[in-house]
Amino acid sequence: MDAAKSRARAAGLGIIDLSIGSSDLAPPPEVLEELRAATHDPATYRYPLFSDTAPLRAAAAAYLARRFGVEVDPGTEVLPLIGAQEGLAHLLLAVTDPGDTLLLPDPGYPPYLGAAALAGVNVVRVPLRPERGFLPDLDAVPAGVRPRALLLNYPNNPTSAVADLAFFRRAAAWCRARGTLLIHDHPYAELTFGEYRAPSALQAGMEGVIELHSLSKTHHMGGFRVGFAAGDAGAVAALARVKGAVDFHPYLGIQRAAALALGLPEEVGRRGAAVFEARRDALMPELRALGWEVQTPQASMYAWARVPGLRDSVAYAVRAAEVTGVALSPGRAFGEAGEGFVRFALVQPPGVLREAARRLGGMRDESLRPGTAQRSSA
Ligand SMILES: Cc1ncc(COP(=O)(O)O)c(C=O)c1O
Repeated sequence: MDAAKSRARAAGLGIIDLSIGSSDLAPPPEVLEELRAATHDPATYRYPLFSDTAPLRAAAAAYLARRFGVEVDPGTEVLPLIGAQEGLAHLLLAVTDPGDTLLLPDPGYPPYLGAAALAGVNVVRVPLRPERGFLPDLDAVPAGVRPRALLLNYPNNPTSAVADLAFFRRAAAWCRARGTLLIHDHPYAELTFGEYRAPSALQAGMEGVIELHSLSKTHHMGGFRVGFAAGDAGAVAALARVKGAVDFHPYLGIQRAAALALGLPEEVGRRGAAVFEARRDALMPELRALGWEVQTPQASMYAWARVPGLRDSVAYAVRAAEVTGVALSPGRAFGEAGEGFVRFALVQPPGVLREAARRLGGMRDESLRPGTAQRSSA
């Protein structure tokens, strides 16, 4: 993709990069001010100890109570993270042994596979199909399979699908029956549109459930590297032991900024979400006019489109970047079940998204016709 973008640039095309799901909005100004002030406070210069994380743990617990009605003990059931991605990699080291089975969604966020490889677990992928609303069919997992953990993520990357509380209750019951830890990766918790509000998996009970929250998307703080884990006290304690060998918690100034962010009124988060909603509204009709199949997302910062006849999404994405300057994520990058789809990250203003769709529509589509796609060497 990088080479294709360079060739497009050399041909004089402006690049429209919709391939990376990093928010282009700024964190709330009061959060930035809190961090600025903290950098001038010498008390923040030393290594943060676990006891220093108490204000952020309390803010996380207050957020979970206010937003989801979930009561967690900030002393034993909450742990700050250097982002959800860091948290997941260390959590797998903490709660699995090499050779254990981990159920991962397909398609799914690609770093899940890296985290699984580091932990040496045996990955079994559960397909997320459009006809099931991109929810896994857990009853189809053979009774003999007793995974150590099941990883879910709703609102979902890349499909933008959402799950209701009834689904999380079923998933938690399924996990408890098989002795499986339910890990819910929840970075898009507040990036929801219209009246829709995402539930927490912790509403299905704390036992055997751990959830990873992040301020990267909800507060546009991806570069700050901060989030938190909450849930099952045993899993949180195991994660704390692994992290204790690896890191010293986020910088205290970032902890203060994150604690302030978690306590901001809901309207602040709604304003950011509304920006992504307007982008969604701009892109949907354009994609449908191209004949692409796409569900209107209720949450997340992605549109997941099935391109009729598409056989090789990697070859298509490379070609599209090269000849149109529009960079998308090929569905297959997220797993076999993602083939035939492409993912748009809604990280540009509405007019730019419309222009991207127009450029894609004008592309000669020889690589889309069934049976004629060349396999990519990428
Ligand atoms: C599903 C999912 N989990 C985790 C992350 C990374 O979150 P963080 O920045 O908190 O590490 C992302 C980022 O795109 C994501 O889509």
